[in-house]
Amino acid sequence: MHAGHDLKARSPLAPDLSPAAVHVYTDLDDYDAVAKGERPGYYYGRNSNSNRDMLEKAVAELEGAEAGLATASGMAALHAVMLALVPRPATIVATRELYGGTMALLRQDFEPAGYEIHFIDLADLEAVRRGLDGAGLILAETITNPLCAVPDIEAIAAMARERGVPFLVDNTFASPILCRPLELGATAVMHSVTKYIGGHSDLVAGVAAGDAKVIGAARARSVRTGTTLSPFDAWLALRGLRTLDVRMRRHSENSIALARAMHSMAGVARVHHPLLEGSPSFAVARRLMPQGVGGMMAFDLEGGRPAVQSMMSRFQLAAFAASLGGVETTISYPEITSHRSLTPQERADLGVTAGTVRVSVGIEDADDIIDDFAQALAAS
Ligand SMILES: Cc1ncc(COP(=O)(O)O)c(C=O)c1O
Repeated sequence: MHAGHDLKARSPLAPDLSPAAVHVYTDLDDYDAVAKGERPGYYYGRNSNSNRDMLEKAVAELEGAEAGLATASGMAALHAVMLALVPRPATIVATRELYGGTMALLRQDFEPAGYEIHFIDLADLEAVRRGLDGAGLILAETITNPLCAVPDIEAIAAMARERGVPFLVDNTFASPILCRPLELGATAVMHSVTKYIGGHSDLVAGVAAGDAKVIGAARARSVRTGTTLSPFDAWLALRGLRTLDVRMRRHSENSIALARAMHSMAGVARVHHPLLEGSPSFAVARRLMPQGVGGMMAFDLEGGRPAVQSMMSRFQLAAFAASLGGVETTISYPEITSHRSLTPQERADLGVTAGTVRVSVGIEDADDIIDDFAQALAAS
């Protein structure tokens, strides 16, 4: 609620919005000192801005990091922090369940530039141990998409540290309220702020956090390539952040309630939620995220795509939308959204079927959400 705020007498309680592209100076030495970072102040909007600054400080504080960098999207944050951690071609070990956009970045931008990418199953700690030998970076997500597995970030961090391999965690699905990877030993962390931190499906933004040297290098690149975040989106993101804690509690309660209720709904073959008894991630999720795992879950419908379409057309409350983390309950269909660039065989290897539906459970009344899915499926 208060992160990033430095309230003094007569401060505005909600921050002013500062859209200025440039600030005026009357003294050349003063400008020089501000531009060098020796004095506080702002001079040009691509380099620095008070709204962006506040968001960066707030997320760094929540993640327990020395510094933060806010960017125009989650992908921009990921790109900048990856190049800060591994600036020259090397081997990148990544979870095979990566978000599709990240997979595309690795395959279409990093690989052609000489990086070698190894995708591995992070649940297999032996494979992680082997993969780390000679690697320049390991990349994981706190909760996987779409089947919501929770890798043992703590164990992976210990192995990476032992071998001196930087460990980057995409913490988008958990948010810093539910998991703080740096406290578990990761080197740096990033978020698609578009999702839970923003929380209201009304902005696109990203943030990276880590030590001052890594974030300094990421910031310099982000300034050079012009991927810094706009003042208004930073202001909106900070407004979203103020309620992140209460939203994450409610998302967590609602997702496990829906996951439990789905077991008895018509046509549901499997439910994926890390805190369902019997989930392969149950013990790790309980240990690493004792307060809950947020709003993400998935299920497999017996009737494949026609059954998904039929359910969708009967929804009264839930909506199909290819994003997540907003206050409203939404579903996405990985076959044509996050996982559309994969071959059917690659999807099958990950357990993503034609009946797999990902749910971003919102903060509506839990019974309303459950009733909506129940009626939509009963009628299918
Ligand atoms: C886990 C994860 N990481 C990164 C991103 C990319 O974020 P953005 O769309 O803000 O660039 C997404 C977007 O869906 C995501 O789900």
